[in-house]
Amino acid sequence: MTTFTINGQSHTFEGDPETPLLWYLRDIAGLKGTKFGCGQALCGACTVHVDGIAMRSCQTFVDDIDGQNVTTIEGLSDDGNHPVQLAWRELNVAQCGYCQVGQIMQASSLLNETPNPTDEDIDAAMSGNICRCGTYPRIRAAIKLAAERS
Ligand code: FES
Ligand code: FES
Repeated sequence: MTTFTINGQSHTFEGDPETPLLWYLRDIAGLKGTKFGCGQALCGACTVHVDGIAMRSCQTFVDDIDGQNVTTIEGLSDDGNHPVQLAWRELNVAQCGYCQVGQIMQASSLLNETPNPTDEDIDAAMSGNICRCGTYPRIRAAIKLAAERS
């Protein structure tokens, strides 16, 4: 049996402990904001926070998060107005949008650890989050805007 929280709510799971967290979130918890991209920890679309740190939920087993706290895009803020979300909207970062939840979760984890990131910090933190639409310049600008305001 595995017990953990998602967005502050307690969950208990008695199924296969090697169930990917991404499937638990989408298919059992009904939290569809977190996206499937590659399934191999190569694209970042499935990024969530586990105890505040960005993790790829496609390659994280439910058993790995026993006793830990998961945050998804639905729980990043109460009202969708986390500083990163505000900056994303202000700069119209998204194009098709598919990668953007993962980008926002990765960026907010970066700012938790490094409140005023340099370009190198941003490149290092964000390099595993792929955007097929090429929104990288706006992502960088939005991270800097969010950092200025945080
Ligand atoms: S779906 Fe998890 S990193 Fe691509
Ligand atoms: S906005 Fe389309 S993949 Fe990133």
